Amino acid sequence: MTIEQLKSKFIEKYGEGEISGYFSPGRVNLIGEHTDYNGGFVFPCALSFGIYCLIRTTERKTVRFASTNMPFEAEVRVEDLNIAIGKEWVNYPIGVFAQFMKKGLTFDKGADLLFYGDVPTGAGLSSSAALEVVTGVVINDTYGFGIGRIELAQMGQKAEHEFALVNCGIMDQFVSAMGKKDHAVFLNCDTLAFDLVPVKLEGVKIVISNTNSPHKLDSGKYNERVAECQAAVKAIQPFQQISALGEISWEDFLKVEDKIEDETVRRRARHVVSEIQRTEDAVKALRAGDLVKFGILMNGSHDSLRDDYEVTGIELDTMVEEGRKIDGVIGTRMTGGGFGGCTVSLVKEEAIDHFIEQVGKNYEAKTGLTPLFYVAEIGDGGKRLF
Ligand code: GLA
Repeated sequence: MTIEQLKSKFIEKYGEGEISGYFSPGRVNLIGEHTDYNGGFVFPCALSFGIYCLIRTTERKTVRFASTNMPFEAEVRVEDLNIAIGKEWVNYPIGVFAQFMKKGLTFDKGADLLFYGDVPTGAGLSSSAALEVVTGVVINDTYGFGIGRIELAQMGQKAEHEFALVNCGIMDQFVSAMGKKDHAVFLNCDTLAFDLVPVKLEGVKIVISNTNSPHKLDSGKYNERVAECQAAVKAIQPFQQISALGEISWEDFLKVEDKIEDETVRRRARHVVSEIQRTEDAVKALRAGDLVKFGILMNGSHDSLRDDYEVTGIELDTMVEEGRKIDGVIGTRMTGGGFGGCTVSLVKEEAIDHFIEQVGKNYEAKTGLTPLFYVAEIGDGGKRLF
């Protein structure tokens, strides 16, 4: 849908008048998975697709929510913008309004909102973070609250915790708010210090393969991993004073690894600590133009997520296995929370058509699911469009 078409939909729904438009992107994480809530490194980039939000303020003292993707609509009084509505999609934007209210901020006007997303939902490309961040940017700008970008990302994360009940890290909201075209964000999730690293891939592209097996980032499995990491920290504490797995180096971890009695917890920790090291190494490799090394680290990341962290599953593993058979694939791994969703691969340009055809055919034959492929364009973080 073009912006003009979206404006027409807005007018159809809410009538003629002034409209402002905003956009926040989804993301693909190149490496650094399940490290963010452990205070580790991540290396995601913002995509060119995401969530759009059109807005007009009103004198009505209610906020109306509608989406071109979902049938559910709601009208909420401004003083009730911190109350969830069932299990509806509007809880994501409402969760963000609620964060502003928690700061003691009030809404002196009402608003009409229309959302539209071109990021596939449930694909693990952070449509929910894009929705939270675009809402944060819209509210901040419209009501003139003057909150900084990083804080808006944190408010989006809180909305996810409190209204979607997923104890996620900061990665998705951060990159949706702070991403930059043709750059990946090397983020320290403990301090939130970050570097924008140019992604110059001579003759190579980032290909996203959607397993079309909806990633089931239900709070259950994800929160279980978060809890296992906390258990690992506890088990290590008598031997080394840490408050998060991000504080222990790989070398030190090897010294205490066998002190973690629970075998599952030990493997979860091994993934996290090794992944943090891989992420640092991968960023160094990319900066040095060593894509081969970057690809090896991506492959290592997937294997660790499959074997130690156990968040892949048959669809993601099949997609990766089939991808690795193709000449011209430099590295391939699952991206995002896991349990379905997408893989990310670095593929030589001349091999992309063959990759899509072969991997598509073999994946479908093995899983019975028809995959989708996108050649990723790295876009900007959340912004006002008009
Ligand atoms: C989801 C969460 C992120 C992050 C990833 C895994 O996308 O929202 O915070 O933990 O999973 O790296």
